[in-house]
Amino acid sequence: MSTIVDKFRISGGRPLHGRVSISGAKNSALPCMAAALLTPETVTLHNIPYVRDIITQRRLLEDIGATVLTPELRTHKITAAHVELFEAPYELVKTMRASVLALGPLLARFGKAKVSLPGGCAIGTRPIDLHLAGFEKFGAEVKLESGNVVARAPSDGRLRAADIHFNKVTVTGTENVMMAATLARGTTTLHNAAREPEIVDLADLLNKMGARVNGAGSETIQIEGVESLGGAEHTIIPDRIETGTFIVAAALTQGRLEIKDCRPDHLEGVIEKLRSVGVMIKEVNPTTLEVTCPDGLKAGNVTTEPYPGFATDMQAQYMVLMTQAQGRSEIIETVFENRFMHASELQRMGAQIHIDGRSAIVDGPTMLTGARVIASDLRASASLVLAGLIAKDETLIDRVYHIDRGYEKIEAKLRAVGADIERIIAPVMTAPILEPV
Ligand code: UD1
Repeated sequence: MSTIVDKFRISGGRPLHGRVSISGAKNSALPCMAAALLTPETVTLHNIPYVRDIITQRRLLEDIGATVLTPELRTHKITAAHVELFEAPYELVKTMRASVLALGPLLARFGKAKVSLPGGCAIGTRPIDLHLAGFEKFGAEVKLESGNVVARAPSDGRLRAADIHFNKVTVTGTENVMMAATLARGTTTLHNAAREPEIVDLADLLNKMGARVNGAGSETIQIEGVESLGGAEHTIIPDRIETGTFIVAAALTQGRLEIKDCRPDHLEGVIEKLRSVGVMIKEVNPTTLEVTCPDGLKAGNVTTEPYPGFATDMQAQYMVLMTQAQGRSEIIETVFENRFMHASELQRMGAQIHIDGRSAIVDGPTMLTGARVIASDLRASASLVLAGLIAKDETLIDRVYHIDRGYEKIEAKLRAVGADIERIIAPVMTAPILEPV
């Protein structure tokens, strides 16, 4: 795994040809790992991606007292039989916001939990008020103490089911509250729930553990609370954002990629949009796509939305694509504030992008030129890699630890299909690194 100062060097201009296999979805694996805290029995998860956020989540589970065995690289056997600590410490939460997913399971099973307020990607303020309001509806007392969220169940130690209306669609909020509801007394209904495939995957795991969750994938989810949950075995769904990123890579480089082990039905909104701007995406079979871009790209507007709309996690990659399209595109980001940080780096590579609040206007096509750029968050880093693949001359991307949080061996996968990309591993530092991770 990377150090904080690793870099990517990319020489652009090579079309990508060949086959690439998609890894398990990080955003599904993280809540499923947290769900293992709901039972003293063993939860076995397959197809876990080898990325940094998973290592962080594993450390969190181990700090809490769970044992995590990995008989194979992508299989985790998690047993939370002897939980001694009911908290997620700041050192872990600050690097990964999804650590807050420990809160719901700990509160539901043990009646108490403490989690430091989250950090993660620098994309807007990203509060967790909706998670906390949900726990309060379950009768928990939630307090903020010295930067920590401290939650306690009612005096009998058990949460009470509730009707919860989210006033904004939240993915991890839905997951956290859904996990807590599995052990609550009575039947909970979640309204305006997130509908992402990762929610459905988590619900599938919970039901295998003995929970009674209905309606996951729709905006109303019902959870009938049970006394206890047991062990289960589950395979994590493929990563739809990694899939989308490789579709864009094939189109941008005018190559031909076969993308296998994916679930095209999980990214229909993205595929539809990419087809409408000229990307040829053929479904070879239910888990394989073939991508080419024979007739060039044309401009197309897009607005990010919660699933099944166009994913905000594909916005940065789409922006790079539009720099190569004929005409003017408008990209409107509605899910997060401050999620255009990649734009200034792309401008330094020659892209014509004008940002106005939540709207980005991209004029294309423009020739991109290699530059020294800095990755600012996970998906922004992916967009810089994509830009580097088509830029004239060499691109040097700093702070690739962001990309290592969520893409499994991206440089190895790209190199295997013809990209000229290498990781420059920084020498071991003797002086302390003062920059926060
Ligand atoms: C998840 C994904 C992330 C993706 C995002 C949106 C994981 C681990 N991460 O993040 O990759 O970009 O969904 O698809 O699954 N909000 C509040 N209060 C809350 C919670 C959220 O106001 O309590 C706001 C956020 O600031 C944001 C919007 O709701 O504007 C959506 O956020 P949310 O869906 O919660 O994102 P995450 O679950 O953090």
